[in-house]
This record gives sequence, structure tokens and C-alpha cells, in this order.
Amino acid sequence: MAKRIDAVDLNVYYGKFLAVEGVNINIEPKSVTAFIGPSGCGKTTFLRTLNRMHEVLPGSHVKGNVLLDGDDIYAPGVDPVTIRSQVGMVFQRPNPFPTMSIRDNVLAGFKLNGKRMSKSDSDAVVEKSLRGANLWNEVKDRLEKPGSGLSGGQQQRLCIARTIAVEPAVILMDEPCSALDPISTLAVEDLINELKNQYTVVIVTHNMQQAARVSEKTAFFNIAGTGKPGKLIEYAETSTIFNNPSDQATEDYVSGRFG
Ligand SMILES: Nc1ncnc2c1ncn2[C@@H]1O[C@H](COP(=O)(O)OP(=O)(O)OP(=O)(O)O)[C@@H](O)[C@H]1O
Ligand SMILES: [Mg+2]
Repeated sequence: MAKRIDAVDLNVYYGKFLAVEGVNINIEPKSVTAFIGPSGCGKTTFLRTLNRMHEVLPGSHVKGNVLLDGDDIYAPGVDPVTIRSQVGMVFQRPNPFPTMSIRDNVLAGFKLNGKRMSKSDSDAVVEKSLRGANLWNEVKDRLEKPGSGLSGGQQQRLCIARTIAVEPAVILMDEPCSALDPISTLAVEDLINELKNQYTVVIVTHNMQQAARVSEKTAFFNIAGTGKPGKLIEYAETSTIFNNPSDQATEDYVSGRFG
């Protein structure tokens, strides 16, 4: 189920502005890859090219290739909606549909895809996804209550349940714990650790300890100055990035001597 991702000479534009330049990276399936780097270096921008969310903004486009198990997701005729169902995304702020029940939030992806399901099939998907997101025991007795009634950490796990309900191959997470307290953060990190048994997981984080705790490989992005494009500077085993990086900028960033 998990698929690998390869970006090849990827340039990412907002209109004429080149925001990210020349990224080459191979992201392994069934592993967690962390993206780190200073604010504005293009982590979110690059992440959103991996499921064709970037082009949703008018004028935004890419040059280069992104391969999902070898198939170019930008090839002519490829439907971006299909790509987005294979490459799911979890955002910085938990964004459950507030008036929808917990149950319907989990099923939202199916409804968007226009799939019809029997009650017993949908019950099975709801339970499996909530169990997969480590949330089942906390919500099983209130599935018909609104998603907005959950704590922030529970809401984020609900969003992860919604993402895994459609059985993607890859899960992209953009600072998924930045709005969470430490206990909820640990719950989500535990979950990420389990998700990698089945999925390819990519996580953007500003939290170095988090990158070190959850990821096998880490990519350090950097920017030379305002208006310049962000670049992938170094990509290696997480332990190498934190303990023995090759690049001085990586060393400065991970040791907090940045700026
Ligand atoms: N919608 C947009 N239109 C034009 N430029 C944008 C847009 N979104 C982001 N940018 C620019 O692209 C560059 C990269 O931004 P991006 O949000 O990807 O950085 P980031 O590494 O995710 O930062 P942070 O750590 O603060 O989230 C920045 O120069 C930013 O101003
Ligand atoms: Mg960002």
C-alpha cells in the first residue's frame, strides 16, 4: 500500500516567483521522513506539490517531476483528485468539519469522492479508521456528536482518521502538532510511529526533538535570503543530520545557531 515518492529537479512557482528550486529527493515507503528548516524556506510549498495541492492557487505551478512509485503525478491526463486520494494531507490546525458528527467526519473523504456505502460497511470503515488513529476508545460512545466537541489533540487524530479512511498510500503532515499540548503531541507521535508500518509518512516540523523521535530520514531546507528560492540542502539519516551533518548550514540550524 505504501508508495515511494521521488521528486526530480522540481521547481515550484507562485506565478513568476520561484519559491523552491531544484529539489531532488527519494522518499522511502513505510518510513517517516521529516522536513525541517527556517520559516519561509518552502517546506509547506514543497510538501503541497507532492499531492498536487499547490496548483489549487491560481498561477501556481511546478516544473520537474514527482513520481509516485515511478509514475509521474504531473503527467498529462492524470487526475489531481485521484492523486489527492492516494496522497492524503493533515494540516497544522486540526480542521474537522465542525457541524458534522465524528462519524461523518471520518467518512467525509468518501462523501467527497461520491462513493455510496451500506451502513455496515461505513460502520466498519469508521471503527477501523478511528482505531488506526488511536481515537476509537475515546469516541466510540459519542460518534454522533459533533467533531468540534473534541479536544485539539483528539481533533487532530480525527483528521488523521479521516485521512486514513480512504486508504491513501502516503500521508503528508504539515506541522501536525504545532497547535497541540505536549500530551496530545505524544499521542500523535505514537500514532505516526504506527502509521509508518503501513504508509509513507512525511512530516514538516519546527520541533527538532520531534524530528529526531519520529523520523528515519530528515531533509533540511534553507533559503539564502528574502526573495531567493528555498533549496534542499541536505538529506540523510536523521541521526546523521542531527549528529554529523555534512553542511555547515545544517549544523548551525540543528544546533540552534541559526540566523
Ligand atoms: N500563496 C502564496 N503566494 C505567494 N507566495 C507564497 C505563497 N505562500 C507562500 N509563499 C512564499 O513561498 C515561500 C515559501 O513559503 P512556505 O510557506 O512554503 O515556507 P515554510 O518553510 O513552510 O515556512 P514556515 O516554517 O513558516 O511554515 C515564502 O517566500 C512565502 O512567502
Ligand atoms: Mg510551512
